[in-house]
Amino acid sequence: MKIVLALAGAAALAQRLAAELPCACAPVHVHRFPDGEQLVRIDEPVAGRSVVLVAALDRPDDKLLPLLFAIDLVREQGAARVGLVAPYLPYMRQDQRFHPGEALTSRSFAALLSQRLDFLVTVEPHLHRWPSLQALYAIPAHAVDADGPIAQWIARQVPDPLIIGPDAESLAWVSRIAARLDAPSCALVKTRLGDREVTIAPADLPARGTPVLVDDIISTGRTLVAAAQALRAAGRPAGLCVCVHALPEDGATQALAGAGLRLASCDSIDHPSNAIALAATLANDLRQLALT
Ligand code: R5P
Repeated sequence: MKIVLALAGAAALAQRLAAELPCACAPVHVHRFPDGEQLVRIDEPVAGRSVVLVAALDRPDDKLLPLLFAIDLVREQGAARVGLVAPYLPYMRQDQRFHPGEALTSRSFAALLSQRLDFLVTVEPHLHRWPSLQALYAIPAHAVDADGPIAQWIARQVPDPLIIGPDAESLAWVSRIAARLDAPSCALVKTRLGDREVTIAPADLPARGTPVLVDDIISTGRTLVAAAQALRAAGRPAGLCVCVHALPEDGATQALAGAGLRLASCDSIDHPSNAIALAATLANDLRQLALT
């Protein structure tokens, strides 16, 4: 019998996933000592069971060691298979050495997880210069699409949408969402000048539809704010932006509101903007792994 184990920050999604599968769900308890070191404890028996760890890996550095400790723990306790559902897969943006001497962190992170896990399931990873997760991960690694749940949600909210991505990299993805909605789509032209500095060229938009901005990640919010400004300058302001992974830093959601944008996100990371549920989609994917 499989079991879902929730790491810190992923309890709500883990419960929803366990209800979909269906199977038992239990927490991975983490005690933090005064010096900052962490101890993990699991109370449920896992011997002979397939274990699905669910982790929210935004701001991952502090969460990685408890995850690795939990993997080792369930293996020592005799788990039959150990997999990870990490709806947001971190360290994917460093997918090439953009400057000499830089670390290729996407590859190092993948090696770290591949050494310990039997499988990985994630949602819309930032795959731009890597052709697939399988090019990076040495274990079965599934990239689950969020375009279906996003399109269904937009269909209920906006009668005649125009799906707009903020940069050329998003074009294929926004086109898939638009195709599901039988709606037009386009991508803006973005230049990133620094972590918090983004410009977007004047927009040339299809004539039809209510603009809806869609992006995979929101972090500083600068991309979507700049996109909103470009749309406003083109006389086609957007009131809604949708993202898969909401990891906004302090002030980012206020900046979006200041640009006239309401944020709706998938529940890959627990955030007040969560509106689009992924548990059923994740459960469908996990069923393909035929877990015992
Ligand atoms: C970049 O390629 C991504 O698709 C997002 O546009 C980006 O990560 C958003 O970051 P920020 O909110 O910091 O502009």
